[in-house]
Amino acid sequence: MVDTLTPVLTDDWDTDRAWTLKAYEKAGGYRGLRSALTMKQDDVIALVKDSGLRGRGGAGFPTGMKWGFIPQGDDKPHYLVVNADESEPGTCKDIPLMLATPHTLVEGVIISSYAIRATTAFIYCRGEVLHVVRRLQRAVQEAYLAGHLGKNIHGSGYDLDLIVHAGAGAYICGEETAMLDSLEGRRGQPRLRPPFPAVAGLYACPTVINNVETIASVPCIVANGADWFSAMGTEKSKGMTIYSLSGHVTRPGQYEAPLGITLRELLDMSGGVRQGHSLKFWTPGGSSTPILTAEHLDVPLDYEGVGSVGSMLGTKALQIFDETTCIVRAVLRWTEFYKHESCGKCTPCREGTWWLVQTLQRIENGEGSDSDLDMLVDLCDNILGRSSCALGDGATSPITSSIQYFRDEYVAHLTGGGCPFDPAAATLFSSSARALSTGGASMATAGASA
Ligand SMILES: Cc1cc2nc3c(=O)[nH]c(=O)nc-3n(C[C@H](O)[C@H](O)[C@H](O)COP(=O)(O)O)c2cc1C
Ligand code: SF4
Repeated sequence: MVDTLTPVLTDDWDTDRAWTLKAYEKAGGYRGLRSALTMKQDDVIALVKDSGLRGRGGAGFPTGMKWGFIPQGDDKPHYLVVNADESEPGTCKDIPLMLATPHTLVEGVIISSYAIRATTAFIYCRGEVLHVVRRLQRAVQEAYLAGHLGKNIHGSGYDLDLIVHAGAGAYICGEETAMLDSLEGRRGQPRLRPPFPAVAGLYACPTVINNVETIASVPCIVANGADWFSAMGTEKSKGMTIYSLSGHVTRPGQYEAPLGITLRELLDMSGGVRQGHSLKFWTPGGSSTPILTAEHLDVPLDYEGVGSVGSMLGTKALQIFDETTCIVRAVLRWTEFYKHESCGKCTPCREGTWWLVQTLQRIENGEGSDSDLDMLVDLCDNILGRSSCALGDGATSPITSSIQYFRDEYVAHLTGGGCPFDPAAATLFSSSARALSTGGASMATAGASA
């Protein structure tokens, strides 16, 4: 059992002007870089392997192993691309991290690029978050001026250029191969694999693509050691991570804790479900991970624990919904998002998400027929495993899991002439919510203060 927060990445978020190089270095920043540059590249890769760090972008792939796939001794340039597209509904950890302490990411990029022998790196940032793009650009400029980037970094003979690239705002560009196409100036659509990016990625050269939080975790591993990192977490899910609580929770925000903490423990620390209400359902890792219910409050939030109850840890975006929420309405909202964001490359996802929205809308509006529930299940069957990328699969997760847990509510929509819920009651500004509010619902950086 874990009953405590472990602020590492979030530790300095509330210090004065935490985003500046001065504040970052005062807190010990760039210590990891200096020691990494004294090590052999392969030793840095081995250290990250030993730490047990797994990708924080959703799939949890072991980071050191991914780096190890990059062929060494070839004549091609190598690239590091940081995935800062963060567009999944509910997912909101990378943007606050880049806003609060962008140098954590910049330092991580330099160490990681050094390890995989890349001399050019990119941070692909969601374009709509212009304030984050600007903050990153300024941090990169500061790092160049301080000699952390550019030619012959700290006299080591190692050169690195880091480019901040603003995307145009498409969820699919977070899919790693679509991101590469977008970076190359093409329309962002997933590539067929093989070849995998480690062999032929950006400009057909060996490329590592990692999430912001993954790369930002590298400096503290180098500075404190693999054992320090792997002492946190569970047997197969090592280290600390950022859990993002949102929705019907008293104190939403970022909670940094060892992997394996439970939602019950996180709710205890965040003031619980909003006052006067009870938990109905939640997502463990964003909208494309199957929903869970109150019976799963004690499931360890690590890759294995969440997998064992039929869902995925994903991005650790814990969206909390109380009993005022209509499951059909919530699932319809998410499905509209997937329909809108489908890149259209493959038929099951392009056509299927359109049909899913039509069917859910009919049910929600009281125009559904008895066959619609079977139709939803059948559509999901035809999308899952038959789409070119995980967007299609993800679109089916909220639907199949919600039918599994709340079939009766779907049936009530069909037999009762539509939605029995008052949509206003689920809003955070509903009159009952206002009356009961303790005033604590701010996007606080709870990890740092608790
Ligand atoms: C539709 C879609 C969107 C994705 N969006 C993101 C994203 O915004 N950020 C991210 O890190 N990974 C995202 N991923 C996962 C990436 O493809 C990739 O697995 C990840 O960046 C690898 O980094 P990691 O090993 O550090 O987790 C997305 C995947 C899909 C299918
Ligand atoms: S599954 Fe959807 S998003 Fe992915 S390639 Fe096919 S159409 Fe595009």
